[in-house]
Amino acid sequence: MQKTTEYLCRHHGGDGHKAAEKTIQSHAKNHDRDFQTFWHRHCDRQLSDKASVIDLGCGPGLWLNELAALYPNARLTGIELAPYMLDRINGLATNINIIIDDLNNPTVDIPVHSVDVVLANLLIHELHQPVTLFSKLRSWLKPGSVLILCDMVRQPLADYLEHQYADINLGSHTPDYEALTNAFQHFQEHNRYHPEDLIQLLERCGFKVIESELFKNGRAVRIAAISV
Ligand SMILES: C[S@@+](CC[C@H](N)C(=O)[O-])C[C@H]1O[C@@H](n2cnc3c(N)ncnc32)[C@H](O)[C@@H]1O
Repeated sequence: MQKTTEYLCRHHGGDGHKAAEKTIQSHAKNHDRDFQTFWHRHCDRQLSDKASVIDLGCGPGLWLNELAALYPNARLTGIELAPYMLDRINGLATNINIIIDDLNNPTVDIPVHSVDVVLANLLIHELHQPVTLFSKLRSWLKPGSVLILCDMVRQPLADYLEHQYADINLGSHTPDYEALTNAFQHFQEHNRYHPEDLIQLLERCGFKVIESELFKNGRAVRIAAISV
């Protein structure tokens, strides 16, 4: 776990406190109306009164708290590893449980076929590989239950630079060396998968993809898949 924690801290820019703050600031954007429409379209039918829901890489737990307000009798679980994210979890509703585990190779004991909905929002690109997790999810999810996966996908370097350095003309101004190195590392780590890679990987791991849609001008994908 220590190695993954160090990897994550570097991936998050080397400053955990700042990364957690950024996650809190971008919570509304990352769970906006389009996300919620997608969520309700695929999850409402699974979310009976006593449903079990897991938020993988739940960060500071804000989405879990929103779910608790909607589903006060559901069993809500967050799984998270980064200490600076865990430190920012507070004021959790009583039906939320947080588990500390490394989702690269989860060791948490979740009963077979006990979970109704799993969310992985901006998690998969941070894993060394997602196959072990997908295999665990197939065991945890009830047959026919749903995984919602949202993540950044491949984008041309030009689009990334436009987003990252919108106000800077690289022809006349060279950003700081460290910042540039981090930006190119960040580009690579957010460029792991094409949307089709994720869809095919899920299908090879025993899921049936029922809907996918691009957002952020094609820089991200939302997928709903059921465990078959
Ligand atoms: C980009 S943040 C997204 C947080 C939250 N899901 C959201 O949408 O606001 C990714 C989260 O996944 C967590 N994470 C990444 N790799 C992990 C791992 N191997 N095990 C557990 N959590 C992990 C990170 O610490 C971070 O909190």
